[in-house]
Amino acid sequence: NVLILDFGSQFTQLIARRVRELNIYCEIHPYHHIPEDLSSFKAVILSGSPFSVRAEDAPHPDLSKIKGKLPLLGVCYGAQYLAHFFGGEVAPSNTREYGRAKLNTILDTSNLFIGIPEGAQVWMSHSDSIKVLPKKAIKLASTDDVANAAYQIEGEETYAIQFHPEVYHTTHGKQLLENFLIEIAGVKPNWTPAAFVDTTVQELKEKLGNDKVVLGLSGGVDSTVAAVLLHKAIGKNLYCIFVNNGLLRKNEFQNVLDQYEHMGLNVKGVDASARFLKALAGVSEPEAKRKAIGNAFIEVFDHEAHLVEDVDWLAQGTIYPDVIESVSVNGPSVTIKSHHNVGGLPDFMKLKVVEPLRMLFKDEVRRVGAQMGIDPELLGRHPFPGPGLAIRILGDITEEKVRILQEVDAIFIDGLKKWDLYDKVWQAGAILLPVQSVGVMGDERTYEKVVALRAVESTDGMTADWVNLPYEFLQETSNYIINRVKGVNRVVYDISSKPPATIEWE
Ligand code: XMP
Repeated sequence: NVLILDFGSQFTQLIARRVRELNIYCEIHPYHHIPEDLSSFKAVILSGSPFSVRAEDAPHPDLSKIKGKLPLLGVCYGAQYLAHFFGGEVAPSNTREYGRAKLNTILDTSNLFIGIPEGAQVWMSHSDSIKVLPKKAIKLASTDDVANAAYQIEGEETYAIQFHPEVYHTTHGKQLLENFLIEIAGVKPNWTPAAFVDTTVQELKEKLGNDKVVLGLSGGVDSTVAAVLLHKAIGKNLYCIFVNNGLLRKNEFQNVLDQYEHMGLNVKGVDASARFLKALAGVSEPEAKRKAIGNAFIEVFDHEAHLVEDVDWLAQGTIYPDVIESVSVNGPSVTIKSHHNVGGLPDFMKLKVVEPLRMLFKDEVRRVGAQMGIDPELLGRHPFPGPGLAIRILGDITEEKVRILQEVDAIFIDGLKKWDLYDKVWQAGAILLPVQSVGVMGDERTYEKVVALRAVESTDGMTADWVNLPYEFLQETSNYIINRVKGVNRVVYDISSKPPATIEWE
């Protein structure tokens, strides 16, 4: 087990993901909540930070239980922290050091640079520099602009690097982390999907015994993998509820329900489309739509959960990024969209909660799913928002608009699959715009709806780029939509990145 102390860098989660890719388990803890009991940790990594170590309000935790006692690697701010507080000197750099650089001198007596050649590319992102190394430091590497790019403290297993091993542009970053964790700290790479499934199923068996558990399936990867894990542990005592809110993709409800049944899950499909449409009638403000859908879902789910007698637990597909306690740099972050917004506390939310995926990143959820034999097509599905097509129909929602958008969306998604583009895109969908435009069809003038197509690349949805889809594909798709979907006479392609745009339009 590896401890990553977070000082608020945007890259902290990336460090954790790189460590996990080495089949090593790690946890992120904020710098101000260092675990009391460190006995289970074999190594510690200090993250980067947007702060300067010289600032008074910067993170300045007490490392006396860690430094010199456990193998320690300081990254960027972490490296500067170890210099600033242990006899070195950190000062503003003359130039902001940002971007690619080449490692010059690698003097390695320490195993940190095994297999990393002189001249290897690294990624820098800092505005302070280490001018004087801390006491008993041995310099290991420099770059043209950074004199002290890596050092080690003599007599301790303490290492520090100014560059970021976790970002892709540092070509040997993963090797360096492997050297530190496996060669130096002696951590065993035994965090594998197979081991996770075995231990989790065992733990769930012990924790749940003969208790009954309800779980809401959404058709998404997380709830599906959570369900299969629980099903392995408690079989028919897992009661899955799959609600059709009428805002899913075309034929999605029936297709996914069939798949779930085929997997042997004890699942009940509940078609509540009419109820959701009623709750949405006349609502056009995006947040009001999300609330209406959230509330309707809670009512339907609560009713269904009550039908299961003597239920004790609510299972959820929560994953690690949702539970990491974040280091707030600019005060509490502002709610831009009320994702997963819920009101009051219905009965099912008073149940005990079991979250078998709460320590996994998204890519690990997929690997665990694959390990358990879940259909790769299901595991490779694009993310789809809880409120579904409701937030892709700008303005108010009617049954007719849902139908039009379902048709358009199906043509777009099927086309991506046919052209072998689906897996190259992180998320795609169509948006029905609240404008009409003039067109001609035959000799007739038309005045009909406009749809936008959106396809983005991303790793976590926090930032995204629009995808450069082939013109031929866009041409074919546009023709097909306009010819087949009555009520649409114009198709546009969204070429905005996030930020400043968002992925969804509402
Ligand atoms: P944005 O539009 O904020 O979307 O760039 C980022 C990711 O979040 C999804 N999204 C939602 N998911 N409920 C959800 O469950 C929501 O209300 C919601 N709004 C956006 C979006 O599809 C994208 O993957």
